[in-house]
Amino acid sequence: MGASSRALATVVRPEILDCFRKQVPACRESGSEFTARIFERCAEDIEAGGPVARWVADFEGQPVLDALPQRVLGAVQFLALGGEAPEFMRFHPFGGEPRFPEAADAFVAVVEQNLERLRPELSRQVQTNEVRRAAGLLGGFLTVAQETGLPLRVLEIGSSAGLLLFWDHHRYALGPHRWGDPKARLELTTDWSGPPPPLGARVQVTSRQGCDLDPLDATDPAELRRIQSFYWADQVDRQRLLLKAAAALPGPAPVERIRAGEFVARETAERREGVATVLFHSSMWWYVPRAEQAEITEAMERAGARANADAPLAWLRAEPPDLSRAELRLRTWPDGDDRLLARVAHHGQWVEWLAA
Ligand SMILES: C[S@@+](CC[C@H](N)C(=O)[O-])C[C@H]1O[C@@H](n2cnc3c(N)ncnc32)[C@H](O)[C@@H]1O
Repeated sequence: MGASSRALATVVRPEILDCFRKQVPACRESGSEFTARIFERCAEDIEAGGPVARWVADFEGQPVLDALPQRVLGAVQFLALGGEAPEFMRFHPFGGEPRFPEAADAFVAVVEQNLERLRPELSRQVQTNEVRRAAGLLGGFLTVAQETGLPLRVLEIGSSAGLLLFWDHHRYALGPHRWGDPKARLELTTDWSGPPPPLGARVQVTSRQGCDLDPLDATDPAELRRIQSFYWADQVDRQRLLLKAAAALPGPAPVERIRAGEFVARETAERREGVATVLFHSSMWWYVPRAEQAEITEAMERAGARANADAPLAWLRAEPPDLSRAELRLRTWPDGDDRLLARVAHHGQWVEWLAA
C-alpha cells in the first residue's frame, strides 16, 4: 500500500477520537488507572494513524452509545486472557505486573499483529453480568415473597449469562444483616444503609427462566472469558467475583435467545395460579428500543389486569435514572402500585434501603 492510500485508510471520525479521550478521565475517576492509560495510548495511536486507528476507522456505530473503547479493550483482553497475547498479559493487572509504557506498547503490538482477526470483534456488543446486583434485588424478591405468601416464578430479561437468576442460591452479608444458607458456595457482600429488607420471608423459587439477544454460557470457559474480557482491566475484584459466580452455577443457566418484548408477552399471556410471577431486570432497559419498552409495559399491564391474590404479578427493576446510581423499583398487581424500594450502586457495592 502506498503512503497516500494508507493515509486515506486511516481517517478516523473525530467523535471516535473524542470518545477515547473522554474515557481517560472517566476511568481515572472510577479508580481504573491501567485502563485510563490504555485508552490514552489508543487516542495517541488514533491521532498518529497507527494500528488502533486502522482498526477503528471502519467502525460505523455510535462510539459513545455503543461503548467503542470497551469493545476495543474487550477484544484484546479476550485474546490475552486466552493465552494468545502473553507479552500484554505480563503487564496486565489480572495475573501480571502493570508497568507503563510497556503495557501500552504491548497492547498496540497485539492490535498490529492481530488486526484482521480483531476487525469483526468491534461488532460485538459489550456484555457483562454483575452478580453483586443480586444484593439489592434480593430485597425486592423478599418483599414479594412476604406480601404474597406464595412461591416465586422468576423471569428475567437481558440475563446475559443468567448469573442473577440464581440469586436465592447465595448467602448475603448486607452490611450487618445476613441472609441465605451459611454453607452456600458464594457470598455476596454489600454496604447497607436504612432498615433491613424482610429477611424472615419464606422463599421458594418454583421456576426460573431468562432471555437475552445474545445469551452466554458461563459454564463454557471461552464464553466466560468473553464476559470477563469486557471488564476494565484493573477491576480485578469484579472479575474474581464473576469467576466465583460461574463456578457456583449448578449448570448452564436457562437463558433463551429471544427479544425481551417477545419473551414477556409470551410468559405473561396466561395467568399462573398458586405462584407469584416476578419479572426482573437490571442494567438492560436503556438498551431496549422505545417501541419494545412499550411492548413490555403493555404486556405487564395486560397481565396485571388479570392478576389476583392467588396469581399475583410483580415487576422488579434495578435500572439507573442517571449515571451515578440505579434505583430498585417494584410494581405489583393486582393493585398496580409502583414503589421505590432502594437506591443501589451500579455494580451492587452499596444499597440504601428505603422501604419500611
Ligand atoms: C449490561 S448487560 C446486563 C446483564 C445483566 N442484566 C446484569 O445486570 O448483569 C445488558 C444485557 O441486555 C441484553 N439485551 C439488550 N437488549 C435486549 C433486548 N431487547 N432483549 C433481550 N436482551 C437484551 C444484552 O444482550 C446484554 O446481555
